[in-house]
Amino acid sequence: MLELLGIHAGYHGVGVLRDVSLRVAPKAFFGLLGANNAGKTTLVNVISGAVRPTAGAIRFDGAEFSAVDPREAVERGIIQVPEGRLLFPDMTVLENLMLGGLSSRAKPRRDATLERVFTLFPRLRERRSQKAGTLSGGEQQMVAIGRGLMADPVLLMLDEPSLGLSPAAVQTIFRVLVDLHRSGLTILLVEQNLKLTLSCTTRCAVLERGEVVLEGEPKQLGDDPRTHRAYMGL
Ligand SMILES: Nc1ncnc2c1ncn2[C@@H]1O[C@H](COP(=O)(O)OP(=O)(O)OP(=O)(O)O)[C@@H](O)[C@H]1O
Ligand SMILES: [Mg+2]
Repeated sequence: MLELLGIHAGYHGVGVLRDVSLRVAPKAFFGLLGANNAGKTTLVNVISGAVRPTAGAIRFDGAEFSAVDPREAVERGIIQVPEGRLLFPDMTVLENLMLGGLSSRAKPRRDATLERVFTLFPRLRERRSQKAGTLSGGEQQMVAIGRGLMADPVLLMLDEPSLGLSPAAVQTIFRVLVDLHRSGLTILLVEQNLKLTLSCTTRCAVLERGEVVLEGEPKQLGDDPRTHRAYMGL
């Protein structure tokens, strides 16, 4: 589905990602783990086309790019649920969700997809007319994920969806992610919540200072002391 080959990327001449190669198989639930500043968001931004790599190649669904065009990425179904949610606080839940369905890929199925989002998150149906900025953190994360789903993803990338949420809200969000994976969606999950990520993913990689230092089955990574070391930033 997605392959990164020797990706280098950074900002203003300062390198962040170094020689990152990864393979996300179709229908995988792939976890990308790493401490603060490891380069996780940068990597997701490279895949969605928001950051241009300085070297390397990206293969998605058989086509190869040196850099992805952000609009084309959305049309191909590469969809990012950004870190910090980035909702429009003065717009309603429904308006925020609808913004996810603007691509020509998503538009024809928009009503059916909205119904699916409301079935996954009944709370959003109840609060469809409420301004997004007045929702709880957990509800806002539901809107962010719902907006991503409205884009009809082939690959859904979530950047730290558990950030700042209560344990109960995290459980709700992860239950939905597991359901989405079971229904056949390919997911790339960026997380710092090691235990939770290892428990629900099918494959994981650990990023440390811009490099993939470990990759494998969640069980294997959980048993490897290097995972915990990379995590603690030691
Ligand atoms: N827009 C930017 N301009 C300049 N430097 C940036 C930019 N975005 C990120 N960086 C730098 O790139 C490095 C990696 O940041 P990145 O956000 O990718 O890490 P992360 O693993 O997502 O961290 P976190 O867990 O805190 O979200 C950091 O040193 C950061 O300061
Ligand atoms: Mg980040």
